[in-house]
Amino acid sequence: MTQSHPRISKAVIPAAGLGTRFLPATKATPKEMLPVVDKPAIQYVVEEAVSAGLSDVLMITGRNKRPLEDHFDRNYELEEALSRKGDAGRLARVQESSDLATMHYVRQGDPRGLGHAVLCAAPHVGDQPFAVLLGDDLIDPRDPLLARMVEVQQREGGSVIALMEVDPAQIHQYGCAAVKPTGDSDVVQVTDLVEKPEAGEAPSNLAIIGRYVLDPAIFGILRETEPGRGGEIQLTDAIQKLADAHLAGGSSVGPVHGVVFKGRRYDTGDRGDYLRAIVRLACEREDLGPEFRAWLRRFVTEEM
Ligand code: UTP
Repeated sequence: MTQSHPRISKAVIPAAGLGTRFLPATKATPKEMLPVVDKPAIQYVVEEAVSAGLSDVLMITGRNKRPLEDHFDRNYELEEALSRKGDAGRLARVQESSDLATMHYVRQGDPRGLGHAVLCAAPHVGDQPFAVLLGDDLIDPRDPLLARMVEVQQREGGSVIALMEVDPAQIHQYGCAAVKPTGDSDVVQVTDLVEKPEAGEAPSNLAIIGRYVLDPAIFGILRETEPGRGGEIQLTDAIQKLADAHLAGGSSVGPVHGVVFKGRRYDTGDRGDYLRAIVRLACEREDLGPEFRAWLRRFVTEEM
């Protein structure tokens, strides 16, 4: 099919949450800045957006925005010092984050929920479909999810969300999707969404994970969406309304599809998963891995 949908070039990364699960580390530092091995979690996410072809990145920040802005900016003093020492390797690593993408920032003010954070992106995004990436979810770069979602959106129009099968006993921690199959084995059409369903009320074991490609019609819906669960404006509720509007017919709103992700994902917003992500990624690193794996083996067999 020929491409008839506007090209996607903008990524939005909401990073204004309070990060209460990580207190006190997140008292003065955004949780997105917590290091995963030697890079802040947010850098992996920006790298993912860029490798899916989206190099215009808008970050929605909160009260602790300084470290985020500084990380993606030049640090002349540090660069000077590393050049003087002739440390080309570290200099390149420092410059990597500032050369990555065109970064923009907007402040959310009150953190009134993920839906409200996304609404703050409306003036920057305008009338084009756009991607949303949550800093909590690290998707392994070897399993490109966002690029596939962009491809599906360009073919089908509308919106595309990322879904992952989870243990039914855990589905109450996620937004959950009711779906019907399409001709592609990894793509489903979304018919209903429920935010954090009670046990026994989940329509499936497909959980929404933190990647979205959204129709700009979401902004109008978010403006009218009342605070939902937890007094927050829920993005899930607004996407549900997009799906409803499409299924009811007679509107120009496109469908909501889901890409079912089977790759490696780390939920760094959760302390246990954060530790697992670091261990896993450190084990796989060429520079640190061999020594770290040997230590880990000894630690597990001799000290546990
Ligand atoms: P979470 O639900 O994980 O909330 O937000 P949180 O406040 O960051 O973390 P905890 O649960 O208190 O530990 C999901 C994503 O939405 C962003 C967060 O930064 C995170 O990337 N968010 C959430 C906002 O940008 N603004 C909000 O008002 C709420």
